[in-house]
Amino acid sequence: MTTYLVTGAAGFIGCNFVKYILGRHSDIKVVILDALTYAGNLASIADELHDARVTFVRGDVGDRALVAKLLAEHDVDYIVNFAAESHVDRSITNPRLFLETNILGTQNLLDCARHAWTADGGGYLPGKKYLQISTDEVYGSLPKTWDEPHPLPVTDDIRRVIGSRSDMKTYGDRFFTEQTPLAPRSPYSASKTSADLITMAYHATYGMPVNITRCSNNYGPYHFPEKLIPLIINNILQGKKLPVYGRGENVRDWLYVEDHCKGIDMVLRGGRVGEVYNIGGFNEESNINIVRQVIAIIARIMRDEPHYQQLLSCPLEAINDGLIQHVADRPGHDMRYAIDPSKIARELGWYPETPFSVGIEKTIRWNLDHRDWVKSVTTGDYQRYYDEMYKNR
Ligand SMILES: NC(=O)c1ccc[n+]([C@@H]2O[C@H](COP(=O)([O-])OP(=O)(O)OC[C@H]3O[C@@H](n4cnc5c(N)ncnc54)[C@H](O)[C@@H]3O)[C@@H](O)[C@H]2O)c1
Repeated sequence: MTTYLVTGAAGFIGCNFVKYILGRHSDIKVVILDALTYAGNLASIADELHDARVTFVRGDVGDRALVAKLLAEHDVDYIVNFAAESHVDRSITNPRLFLETNILGTQNLLDCARHAWTADGGGYLPGKKYLQISTDEVYGSLPKTWDEPHPLPVTDDIRRVIGSRSDMKTYGDRFFTEQTPLAPRSPYSASKTSADLITMAYHATYGMPVNITRCSNNYGPYHFPEKLIPLIINNILQGKKLPVYGRGENVRDWLYVEDHCKGIDMVLRGGRVGEVYNIGGFNEESNINIVRQVIAIIARIMRDEPHYQQLLSCPLEAINDGLIQHVADRPGHDMRYAIDPSKIARELGWYPETPFSVGIEKTIRWNLDHRDWVKSVTTGDYQRYYDEMYKNR
């Protein structure tokens, strides 16, 4: 029996991870610790809460007494720390909260684990591991070499990642590897970088068994509609304008969330202790092209499957690029992120299985088929935030 303590599992990636491991392994127990901030929704783990293998606890990762009690009560083998303030725009408005949750929360988990996992004669109990979920944003921003995507340059390492796929593309000739110097540029990424550093410090100083995974932009089911793809889907259905920062030329590397969850579980079970693993999709796309693709797919689905038109608050003809509205750019907006995941491919056999064309169609259809979930998470708080961010831009 393996026991996972998963923090932040009422959020986007965490809930997908819990679904993934429960579906994958029968001999596990899962303890979920989540503060249920605006980004945490029990509706995302409604089925899992009925699973006898799952215990849910509402609480803060920074609460020392609570975390110590959970580790004492459950014989936790793996801690997977998803809990974070995760939205860059919010970090620009309120940086302090990011430092408290992302840095001090991480240090608290590490410290409680250090005490709970220390064996009687010294050293650590066998089989224990702390995994810090980090981000490609810790590496800063890469330049764009081309305005339009190019096919990937295929080295032997990259061949291992992409297999026989030919749809992967890039906007530049440089990628983030695990050796790329850390150079965060927003309060969010600075807080995530600090969390990575304290995680590695616990490994170097106290010998804590840790790993860090750094992933690119995730997309998929249960994505909170403040982030680009679900926000665009939601606005299209409501016939609202689609806010795009600046000219929409910033490039992100899109990773289907289930592929990410698989990579995390592989690192937990097989990653070398003390190592960092990059996880990315080798699917770079500019924001403006993402928005155009989402518009085109929704328009096609509505035309081909007219029963979905009941979800529209606008005429079908209104779903076109005319909905796009360029708004003032985010301050210090990073130009391009691009992950090279060949280390995890080489060492653990992971690769991004889901082509973007498949993942984005699945994501859009999930959003069309789960309007109740979207309604349940778009609370007054989200509406207030939306107005604050986009109304006067
Ligand atoms: N979403 C992405 O594309 C992406 C990309 C790279 C890295 N990441 C990292 O992955 C992790 C998960 O991201 P996400 O998009 O699922 O985030 P999210 O914002 O959807 O969810 C965060 C979860 O953490 C919980 N939480 C916040 N503060 C807490 C606290 N103090 N104590 C306990 N729980 C708390 C929230 O209630 C929520 O359930 C984060 O660490 C983020 O930095 C995300």
